[in-house]
Amino acid sequence: MSSDAQSAANALNLAAYFDDLYRPTERYWWRRGDPYSADPDDYPTSLLTQLTLRVIRDRVPGRALDLGAGEGADSIRLALLGYTVTAVEISEVACEKIKSFAAEAGVDVSVVSADIGAYRPEGQFNIVICNGVLHYIRDKTRVIGLMQEATSPGGLNIVSSWTTFSEVPPCHNSVPVYCDDENGIIAHAYASWTLKLKYFERDKAEASHTGMPQHSHSHVKLIAEKPAP
Ligand SMILES: C[S@@+](CC[C@H](N)C(=O)[O-])C[C@H]1O[C@@H](n2cnc3c(N)ncnc32)[C@H](O)[C@@H]1O
Repeated sequence: MSSDAQSAANALNLAAYFDDLYRPTERYWWRRGDPYSADPDDYPTSLLTQLTLRVIRDRVPGRALDLGAGEGADSIRLALLGYTVTAVEISEVACEKIKSFAAEAGVDVSVVSADIGAYRPEGQFNIVICNGVLHYIRDKTRVIGLMQEATSPGGLNIVSSWTTFSEVPPCHNSVPVYCDDENGIIAHAYASWTLKLKYFERDKAEASHTGMPQHSHSHVKLIAEKPAP
């Protein structure tokens, strides 16, 4: 199989995997508390979300791009804060959920059904989020390069991805996963950006999944500001 055909097959498989996860439950992610709260203190177990809210509260809202947006919690929270948001997702079920949750929340989110491995962002964004997604992407360098290009000077990239610190448990074996080293592609890609946050979360018990045995993941998480040219 050519590498393009392999990528297309992987994308279909990923979309079907996430469709199946999202279909049976009203909300798969962000089930505890208000997923759209703008108060950083409402996210005591997510340093990334907490600090994102603290960093952006003094900024004028602009355009935001949420890659692998899931059910749209980050997108909708930013839209409620005044951002013009584009959410990109490979799962059609997720795309429908983002639209209906955004309507319920009374905001507009532009939803694009696409594989971020092949997607080209249009224009410049003040915030680009890729939360929990890059471990599904083999060519991270390409995707991060496009994220960085699409970020305006002074804009932020917000990234969370699994690292090789923990082995990926067998319950996640149905789709290919490409964890990064803690000081791997992701950390290096942001070496010349201003880091507002960078940390390695190690062996954190996963609380979001339903129907999977108890397991943990390790992450690299960062908030980075693009330097002026
Ligand atoms: C762990 S979930 C995170 C969802 C969301 N970012 C959040 O934090 O709630 C990963 C999401 O990335 C999406 N995804 C994975 N690979 C993708 C790809 N190649 N293109 C677009 N979306 C992708 C999945 O469908 C899934 O919804």
